[in-house]
Amino acid sequence: MNGRDPLESAEHPIPEQTLRRIPLYHQILAEMQARSEAYVSSRHLAQFFRIDDTQVRKDVSLIGYKGKPKAGYSILGLKKAIEEFLGINYENTAILIGAGRLGSALSQYPGLAEYGLRLVAIFDNDAARTGTVLGTFTILPMESLQRVVRSFDVGIAILCVPKDAAQSVAGRVVSLGIKAIWNFSPTQLTVPADVIIRHENIALGLAILSHYLKRRKKQDSSASAAGVRENPPQKLIDIFARCQPKREFLVQILEETQKALGYISRESIGHIADFLNISPERVVEAAAFYPLFRTEPPARYRIALCRGETCSRKGSEDLREVIGRELHIADGETTADGKFSLEMVPCRGLCAEAPTVSVNDRIIPVRSAEDFASHLRTLA
Ligand code: FES
Repeated sequence: MNGRDPLESAEHPIPEQTLRRIPLYHQILAEMQARSEAYVSSRHLAQFFRIDDTQVRKDVSLIGYKGKPKAGYSILGLKKAIEEFLGINYENTAILIGAGRLGSALSQYPGLAEYGLRLVAIFDNDAARTGTVLGTFTILPMESLQRVVRSFDVGIAILCVPKDAAQSVAGRVVSLGIKAIWNFSPTQLTVPADVIIRHENIALGLAILSHYLKRRKKQDSSASAAGVRENPPQKLIDIFARCQPKREFLVQILEETQKALGYISRESIGHIADFLNISPERVVEAAAFYPLFRTEPPARYRIALCRGETCSRKGSEDLREVIGRELHIADGETTADGKFSLEMVPCRGLCAEAPTVSVNDRIIPVRSAEDFASHLRTLA
């Protein structure tokens, strides 16, 4: 493997989307490794993100790793390559500022250490908090910041401070020479160009989770009002029979459930949670995390429009406009009556017939945008 740090190379920056996917590849590989799997194909990884397998191969080549023809990628080898690339095997020293609820929870999160982050101190400017103990830390006053940063050669500052204080705290840590900020404060920060900043939009993630949970609670209450307590359907029982009741099987179970039922239904979320002995929220979180998984029933007419290069050149954008005009839906959406859904899909290897569009997995011939519009009207 030829490891290199693309973040340091202005000439060959790694695309943002690739950087976002790499830790997720790592997570999937870790789960597969825990299931004693040895190899994975680019196609298999691609389906989690609804991207083309050539994109996965590009991502992996940017890491500097190569697969084996026919066998695919060694799970162990690729996982190690990603760890090297992300610097997970090197320890990064971090401080956390803001010991409120979020900061306290984050400081206790064991995943920080798993990703090579060594938290050395926690700060707060609230006198009622400083001097109190949080896990293995005593919360320090902001006056101690400079001393700690210098003594531990701190590389990363995790900010969990209120919105109004975030910019001035960021300015202070930057002035002490910290070059990376992980910002959990609900505001965008301005930092010099040589400082790496990562904003976490917790509110957005929570909004997605709360949406699913609200719907599930409704479902649960109507089910219990009706006195219904159903056993898993046979298809789920068959899936459970092939898997072990371990957390590492969650993604595999979700994959198989979607294959069997067409989507991850609210009932199946409860059954999967029971089988794995985890909370339904954890299942919802995983299902919402990967674009692969659908949590709504498939539409009666599932339109899949190719967004590959050749199809784009040959008019798939015009067809997308027709769908927007006729059905008022965009990529990933379903019409209110549940009749039509649209999914933009990667190249299907049918470029000679571009632009390719299918309805319920059957390619339909398209002579012109108008011809396609009238086809949709007929279906409607
Ligand atoms: S680009 Fe659409 S099928 Fe190849």
